[in-house]
Formats: sequence, C-alpha cells, structure tokens
Amino acid sequence: MTLLSNLDTVLKINNLYVGLKDMTIVKDFSLDIHKREIIGIVGESGCGKSTMLKSIVGLSDNNVSIQKGKIDFHGVSLRSMDQNQLRSIRGNKISFIFQKPDYTFDPVMKVKSQFFETVKFHTDGKANKKDCYKRSRELLEQLHFEAPDEVLESYPFELSGGMNQRIAVAMSMINEPELILADEPTSALDVSVQSQVVRTLMELRDKTGVAILMVSHNINVIASMADMVGVMYGGRMVEYGDAREVLQKSRHPYTKALLDAVPAMSQTMPESIEGAPPRFSEILQGCPFRERCPFSENKCETEPAIQGDASHWWLCHKQ
Ligand SMILES: Nc1ncnc2c1ncn2[C@@H]1O[C@H](COP(=O)(O)OP(=O)(O)OP(=O)(O)O)[C@@H](O)[C@H]1O
Ligand SMILES: [Mg+2]
Repeated sequence: MTLLSNLDTVLKINNLYVGLKDMTIVKDFSLDIHKREIIGIVGESGCGKSTMLKSIVGLSDNNVSIQKGKIDFHGVSLRSMDQNQLRSIRGNKISFIFQKPDYTFDPVMKVKSQFFETVKFHTDGKANKKDCYKRSRELLEQLHFEAPDEVLESYPFELSGGMNQRIAVAMSMINEPELILADEPTSALDVSVQSQVVRTLMELRDKTGVAILMVSHNINVIASMADMVGVMYGGRMVEYGDAREVLQKSRHPYTKALLDAVPAMSQTMPESIEGAPPRFSEILQGCPFRERCPFSENKCETEPAIQGDASHWWLCHKQ
C-alpha cells in the first residue's frame, strides 16, 4: 500500500518556506499530491495561498523566493532547476491555470493559434498545425464544447469570460500534463459558470488521471471538487485531511470560523471572522491564529502541536 502510494506521488513538498528578504510568507508547508487526486487549499485573502502555489513552478514575483524546503516532482527537485528548465516543465508536465484567462491568452491571436503556440513551445517548434488543430478540437469535444470549430476560430475577446476560462482549462491539458496548479480558477466568474469550469476540471481528472492542486477562497467550489482539503492561515497549513472530514468535522478554530462565514455550508447566519489575518512582517511565534481565536490561552504563544493522523490533522493546542 505504501509502495503503491509512493509510486503514485506526483508532487512532494517538504517543509517549504517562501518569502522576501528576512520576511517569511509561507512557513513550514508540506504536502503530497498523488495521481488522480484533487487537493483544495482554502484560506482568507492574504494567507499565502498564491505565494505557495506560484513558488512550485518558479512563478514567484521577482522579490519573492524560496527560503528553504524541498519540492520534488516525480522525485526530481524543481528547486534545482533553472528558469529555462522550469519554463519547459510549465505547460508541459505541469500546467498553471490563472484566476483570469487574460494571463493565458494573447488577445490578438485566435484560440486555435494559442493552442498551437503552446504545443509548439513544448515540441521545440516541431509541431504540426493540422495535428494540433485536430487534437485541440478533440479536447474541446471531450469537454463538451458545443461548437469546437467556431471556438477555435474565435479571438478571446469574442467569447465570454466563462468560455475563455474553460478554454484555458482545456489548453492546460493539450500537452497531457500530470499536474495542474490552479490559482482561483473560478473566482473571476459568475456563479452560474463557475460550476461549468468545475465540471470541466473534474472530467479531466476522471479521464486522464491528472492531479490537481487548486487554491481558492471559495469553500463551496473546493467542497464540490476536492478529495483532500488544506486550510492555510498566516502562511501555514493549519488543518489538512480528507475533504469531508475537514469540512464537516473541522477541528481547528480557524477552519470552524472560516466555515461559519460561508452561508451555504453553515446552518447559522453567516458571520465574518472578527479581525484580520496577521501581516507577515508581524508574525509572532506560536499559533498564527491566536490573536483572533476564541480559545486562545498563554500556551498558544508556543508552537502548536500536531494532532490527528495522516488522514486528518490540525495544528492546535486545544484538545
Ligand atoms: N511580491 C510581494 N511583495 C511583498 N509582499 C508580498 C508579495 N507577494 C505576497 N506578499 C505578501 O504575502 C501575503 C500573501 O499573499 P498571497 O497572494 O499569497 O495571498 P493569497 O492567500 O493568495 O490571497 P488572495 O486570496 O487574496 O489571493 C500578502 O498579503 C502580502 O503581505
Ligand atoms: Mg491568491
């Protein structure tokens, strides 16, 4: 069993620290993602979700860098790769989906040419336009686009935001990646089209076995997709485990507060969590949530203990 799951491990992050100068944003972050697994990372704005995700494939902002830790993709260290090697992995073995498809698309290029450029880049320019069109068309058909030819012949500005994001999802698959990293892929969309994008991603997982690591502050989207859920606060993962366990039997006071603030998930009236996440220049020792936590005690000023087991753990002193 252990052997099987090791073989299936696509990405392994160990004790990752990411930050700028002497300030740490992401702290002691560890995660394994396996083939066919969807992991959702939730947390309020400013908790370090994007900083963590972007650092995996070298997309960090200029002033931000990995301070320590390991990131292995099929056992090969991504940290030891230079920007050229990382660029070649991105869009090939690992795809990154941004919040807004505008980051993915060139506005003056038809959708078919965008697919072609992506394929060409990863085949050292040897791609064939006709083959690429055929594969792109098949992909759109598989993902239930109604008029794939029309879509391929369109410019992004002629299509809706939802349609563009579904195309961005399809395009992320053109080189058959083993891992998709998605940063708020549905947040810029109307609720009615969010579910179409979610469905598209889940179909891809079912058909290809691609692993998906997705960050979002939309807990409903994560609840509808994820096998495992991680909750980030103050740059740390404070609770992690089987999605149903974390969302229905949450143990960390922050997770509970976050879920209480979501109307559809809670039986009570929605509340907002009082206070704001810590600023990273001010992060103190001990539990990052202690200043907003209703259960805070003196011992929370010391490093919280890990409780639970591998299928559901949380970082808190409270028993
Ligand atoms: N390039 C940067 N320079 C300075 N500080 C940064 C930079 N990038 C991130 N930060 C700091 O890290 C914090 C976390 O940012 P990040 O974008 O990772 O949060 P997030 O969880 O993705 O939030 P959101 O839900 O709003 O996308 C920010 O609040 C900011 O304090
Ligand atoms: Mg973000």
